[in-house]
Order: sequence, then structure tokens, then C-alpha cells
Amino acid sequence: MVRAASRGYNDSRAAINLPDDKEMLARVKQVVEDKSQLKPEYLVVVGTGGSNLGTIAVQEAVLGKLYNQLDPAIKVLYADTTDSDYINNIIQLIEPALKRDGSVLVNGISKSGTTTETIANFEIILNLLRRYVKDYERYVVVTSDKGSKLWNLALEKGFDVLEVPKMVGGRYSVLSTVGLFPLGLLGLNIEQLLEGARYTRDLCIQSGIEKNPAAICAAVKYLQYLEGKNIFDLFLFSNDLESVGKWHRQLMAESLGKEFNKKGERVNIGITPTVSIGSTDLHSMAQLYLGGPYDKFTSFVCVEKNNSDINVPRLEGYSELVSGIQGKSLKTIMDAILDGTKRAFRKDKRPFVEITLPDKSEGSVGQFLQFKMIVTIYLGYLLNVNPFDQPDVESYKKETREILSPE
Ligand code: PA5
Repeated sequence: MVRAASRGYNDSRAAINLPDDKEMLARVKQVVEDKSQLKPEYLVVVGTGGSNLGTIAVQEAVLGKLYNQLDPAIKVLYADTTDSDYINNIIQLIEPALKRDGSVLVNGISKSGTTTETIANFEIILNLLRRYVKDYERYVVVTSDKGSKLWNLALEKGFDVLEVPKMVGGRYSVLSTVGLFPLGLLGLNIEQLLEGARYTRDLCIQSGIEKNPAAICAAVKYLQYLEGKNIFDLFLFSNDLESVGKWHRQLMAESLGKEFNKKGERVNIGITPTVSIGSTDLHSMAQLYLGGPYDKFTSFVCVEKNNSDINVPRLEGYSELVSGIQGKSLKTIMDAILDGTKRAFRKDKRPFVEITLPDKSEGSVGQFLQFKMIVTIYLGYLLNVNPFDQPDVESYKKETREILSPE
């Protein structure tokens, strides 16, 4: 890993060097500044998988899941799958703004430039934009591999383009132009996001395992896997981190779920990643987790300092409903629930680790994402699979294209 850190983008582990790319950051900031002049009311991010999960994860962690409802200057909508009702709802939201000359920005993101869902949705949203905005080209930003079909078309049409480094794969691309542009436009501090990632990267590429938290974590997980734990649950005690869980699910599933190992032998290996939210899923999954098979390893994640806190009021006549909560903060109650959950896990010999984020700032989230990416790379080494390819995702894409356009 130390070697990879000195090889820029000429290495399959290129993603770990994104936080050092000053040129990319400057370009993203320039496009953010440019497009902010257009005073967008809406940003529509069109992309799927590695091209939007990281952005959603960071946006919701930092700005909150209810961000759009809190009437921000720029609302954000994500168009990923080709679900007509969902895409129609997006149209219903943005069309009134377009009708009254409000501005709507579209960021079409596809590393390959050929993902069916993304291109279909991109064309639909572009078509709408074109109906209302004369110089609609100014409102479009395309993020893709240089030279992809989408990239070339964007240049031809006069859209702004942002390059994804070739060796940075979709699920490792949140800290590239893929995540940085939409997040920067929404006002997030992308320098801090990168700074957090850089800090963790430097810690996690050290050679001595005892000083390297990602290597220790990967080793623990690998040993658990060898003992039959092949379901890894990320149990997040923070609503706003749910999409971080979904991002992590893709990272782990696509990086480690493989038909062949590095020697080309058929292994059909993988770890099934799941996401749970505390305390919501205690009322849904806990029975299985504590009573079911011993096939799971849990990572609890909690946040030390929320952005706000609320106390349960001391209401007369209500104190008998649930004793011991009146006057207490919701954070205290949540901490007690997590402690109770850990006690129950310990009693039942259910293995777990715990990660505490100091807060949900860009820096802390950047640290966490980078940590998880490096742990996944190490797990790839331990399982002897290539954590950077996804041949089976490509195969469904190819089949779909053939069905839609048989020749
Ligand atoms: O990680 C991956 O490579 C995939 O999940 C892709 O991110 C996803 O399929 C979208 O691909 P693209 O960005 O090429 O449209």
C-alpha cells in the first residue's frame, strides 16, 4: 500500500490517492463556482451504483436525510433506476421551477458512459430541460471517463465535463469528481472531506499491522469469516448514516463477491453485507440477530456528538409510561439502547466491533469512508480475490443491452 500511495493513478489502488489530487480539486471548485452563478434551485444527479451511492451517503450524513424538506437554497434529487413513477415524480418537482424560469442543474454521471439506466434517465431529464431553457447546455455537467461515448457526446454538445480517473473504479470514486462536484455545489466542505480521507489513508497504509487500524480490522474480520461468519452487518446508530450503510454494502459486495480467485480458480466466494439502523431495526431484526444462526459479524457505528439534542420533557402525568426517560436527552436514551444491545450481544456470544465517529462533519465522514475502502482492499488480499473488478455486474449490463438492442 505504501507503494500504491506513490504511484498516483497508475495503480489499481489509485483511489487512495484522490485526496492528493490538487488539480482535480481546483477543476471541481471552478465548475462549482461557475454553476453556482446560475442560482440553481434543483440539482438532479443522474447516476447509479458507484456513481451516486457515495454522494447520497455523504450528503445525508452531513446535511441530514430530511435536507430537501428543510427548504435549502439548492434541493437535490437522485435519478438512478428506470422506475417511471419515481422519474415522473422528479419531473413533477422540477417542471414547475423550469416553468417559472427557475434554474435546474443536471449532473449526468457514468464512469463507463454506457449504463442503460443512467443514459435513459439522462436523456429524459435533458429533453425536459431543453423544452424550457434556451441555452440548456450551460445547465448540464457530465462526469465520466475521458473518451467514453458519454464524454465525447458531452464535448460535442458543449456540456461541461469532469473526468473520472481511469483506474478509480465506481465504488471507490466518491472522493473523485463523481462525489466532489455535487457535494461541493450543495455547499459541503469538500476540502475537509478529502483532508479526513487523507489523514486515515496515511494511518492505514503503514506497514506494521499493530499501527494500522484498517489492517487490524481486516484481520479480525477475516478470522471471523474463517469461523463461519459470512454475513457482515453494519449497524448504524444514526438515521442520517443509513446511506453510508448502503454505500458500504456495494463496496463490500462488489469488491469481495467473486466467482474466481486471483489464480483463476472457481471459488464463488463472498461476504454478504447488510445494513441495520439503530434503534429502528432492533424492532425488526434483533430477534434474528440474537436468536438466529451464528453466521453474522456486527460492526456497530455511533456518533459521539450529534448536531443537536432534544430532551424528553418532564410532563406531569406521563412519568409512569416509561420510567427513567423524563428530562433525559434523546442522545442519552440512544446511548443506553446501544449499550443494552451490546450487552445482549455479549451475553449471547455474538461477535462485534464498534466504531465511534466524533461527529457527522465532512472530515469525520471522509475518514470513515476511506477507512472502509482500505479495509475492503485488505480483505480482498486476504480472500485472494481482486477487489477492483466487477465482471458479473458487467455481464448483466451486456445482457440488458442485447435484449434492448438485438443485432
Ligand atoms: O462499482 C461499479 O463499477 C458499478 O456498480 C458502477 O458504479 C455502476 O454500475 C454504474 O456504472 P457507471 O458509472 O459506469 O454508469
